[in-house]
Amino acid sequence: MNGNISFFGESFPLEMHKVRIVQKLNLEPIEERLSAIKKAGNNTFLLKNENIFLDMLSDSGVNAMSDNQLAAMMQSDDSYAGSKSFTKLENTARRIFGKEFILPAHQGRAAENILARMFVKPGDIVPMNYHFTTTKAHIVINGGSVAELYLKEAMNLNSANPFKGNMDTEALKNLLEKEKGKVPFVRMEAGTNLIGGQPWSLQNLREVKAICAEHDVPLVLDASLLADNLYFIKTREEAEKNKSIEDITMEISDLSDIIYFSARKLGCVRGGLMLTSDTKFLEQMQELVPLFEGFLTYGGMSIREIEAMAVGLDETMDFDMIKHGPEFIEFMVQELVRRKIPVVTPAGGLGCHLNAREFIPHVKQTEYPAGTLAAAVFIAGSVRGMERGTLSEERDKDGNEHLAEVELLRLALPRRVFTMSQIKYAVDRIHWLFENRNLIGGLKWLFEPKILRFFNGKLEANSDWQEKLAAKFRADFGDSL
Ligand code: F0G
Repeated sequence: MNGNISFFGESFPLEMHKVRIVQKLNLEPIEERLSAIKKAGNNTFLLKNENIFLDMLSDSGVNAMSDNQLAAMMQSDDSYAGSKSFTKLENTARRIFGKEFILPAHQGRAAENILARMFVKPGDIVPMNYHFTTTKAHIVINGGSVAELYLKEAMNLNSANPFKGNMDTEALKNLLEKEKGKVPFVRMEAGTNLIGGQPWSLQNLREVKAICAEHDVPLVLDASLLADNLYFIKTREEAEKNKSIEDITMEISDLSDIIYFSARKLGCVRGGLMLTSDTKFLEQMQELVPLFEGFLTYGGMSIREIEAMAVGLDETMDFDMIKHGPEFIEFMVQELVRRKIPVVTPAGGLGCHLNAREFIPHVKQTEYPAGTLAAAVFIAGSVRGMERGTLSEERDKDGNEHLAEVELLRLALPRRVFTMSQIKYAVDRIHWLFENRNLIGGLKWLFEPKILRFFNGKLEANSDWQEKLAAKFRADFGDSL
């Protein structure tokens, strides 16, 4: 592992920062955890943060900010139009990405709304290395569909392939030949979220771009998880290991016609950004941003966040900053592998991903293994993860369930937030749960919304397995939590 610092052969990552601001946590007794998850309809989105010990739901908007980011927020130039703070952000983004035009959006999916409205007509197909929930929803709502051109390896949850996020370039060539005129853009997602935060190689991006150029189709980069992808290019791609993070970023940007991202992830704030050097894209964006987001110099964001984003983007060019997440995730994954707990390998970015189908093979896919495991991990450890499986899919037009290709429980590690002992605690409770996995049953719907059902839906256990699990915990742990 990178960051192995022990003289005696033990491997662990080292924080290149110190903690100056802390937030108190609660760890409630098992009976209260059980009651909280039931009240939340077994949906971890509906839990209250005050009832959670380790919130590993997402890295979105909850990364630790730096002293310099907080300081910058104090100097923000609040104005509806022409804010100095936005000029600062434009200058920083131009310097890092080399794009001329910088447009704000209040978060990633807001940028997706604008791009989908600009590009997608009924019947269009958008090829991508893998979909993200909000991306797909925006494309579909505009009448288009998504073609996922991932490698076979992407679905191999335990692989030695360092770049499972690569696009299948042969499939892209074939699709662009076959569907001429129906492909408004090709999308590459950095640090491919839904397959376990897996990166693509710079070489793959070059090949994708060459094919796009041949067919005169723009390449759109979702850079929300770019920090992790940059780390993996630098550490796993032999040909790139001597390049600086700045140079790798610039080449990625040069290959992309449009870049957008959720700054809730990239830049460690709460916002979004779109970048291009092409005036024909700029004109359309300039019409839509004021309509949906706000004036072109704030786009729905607080000016304070804009100040902090400029600093956060610069900090992303620091290898010490971007290595922290992937190294902690690698540590957690190795601890789980050592205990023979099924987890996605190689470790990716964003978080650690438990393989629910192997963890609880007796729970049928129609009983939502990933959602079930999310509820069980919360009961066992007051650790909140996110279901990334069938519950995160939508039913088809006829109401049939669309079974996900993989059933994962994502345990996100927001950047620079958790300590090593908290990670060890999470691993310990997951280990206990794995030993007691036969007690875990499934879930069924109580209330199922039609769109993005995983956000608001409510489910219940299909037996009294949750009570039995909590009773076993109490018996094994006694008075401790
Ligand atoms: N693209 C990717 C790759 C994302 O991971 C996300 C959000 C978005 C777009 C949308 O950005 O939330 O700012 O509107 N991912 C969050 C997550 C929700 O928890 O993984 P947003």
